[in-house]
Amino acid sequence: MKGIVLAGGLGSRLRPLTNVTNKHLLPIFNKPMIYYSIEKLVQAGVEDVMIVTGGTSAGDFMRLLGNGSAFGLKSLYYAYQEGEGGIAHALSLTEHFASGGRIAVILGDNVIEDNIKQFSDRFQKQKRGARILLKEVDDAHRFGVAEIQNKKIVRIVEKPKKPKSKLAVTGLYFYDSDVFDIVKTLKPSARGELEITDVNNEYLKRGSLEYDILNGLWTDAGTFESLLRANRYMHATAGRHHGQKGR
Ligand code: G1P
Repeated sequence: MKGIVLAGGLGSRLRPLTNVTNKHLLPIFNKPMIYYSIEKLVQAGVEDVMIVTGGTSAGDFMRLLGNGSAFGLKSLYYAYQEGEGGIAHALSLTEHFASGGRIAVILGDNVIEDNIKQFSDRFQKQKRGARILLKEVDDAHRFGVAEIQNKKIVRIVEKPKKPKSKLAVTGLYFYDSDVFDIVKTLKPSARGELEITDVNNEYLKRGSLEYDILNGLWTDAGTFESLLRANRYMHATAGRHHGQKGR
């Protein structure tokens, strides 16, 4: 399985921090943000990664990450997203890289504490389809929200004003090769982007969307509040994992 880190976007909610750099290069505790998502893919058993980025700081990713050998990767590729087409559009740029195989996709601003190998193993056992990760949160209206009945997802709504559950769709997705054909059928949403939620709802329609719920800490890091939370999480978990006192 190959891995994809989506690290585009303007980071407009983090200005002026993102005036001269890409959001995913900002620090979370002791590492640049993008390190965490690459490390998660490595944890899932991925050895080949493609990073999709854009904007004026794209070259900095190559300066920072080189050929990925510091992460134990066999290969690290880069794709450049022109403009602001959204997550599903960024994903479409990786079709050639994926070359008909299964992929793990992570949004570069997501911070996940759980070991994701267990979820990746369950996805490998699926005959087909997609697998997403959910997390119970108090501010579900900021995310894609999954409605569950009888342990099955019945609907995912992107940023609902009145969320029907507390289960946010996190930015870690496992897809089979159908994903690229699905993206080609999408129409831009009200915010002018191709939405990953529309991709997941298509898998749902086909009866092949599975899910797990994260136990550990999870946050995005795209706003001042969530970036601060991500820093606190990583400070605390680094302490836990190294036998120091976390906060
Ligand atoms: C995106 C997705 C949303 C998901 C979130 C996770 O939101 O559209 O469904 O819950 O990532 O971080 P965005 O960050 O583009 O607002």
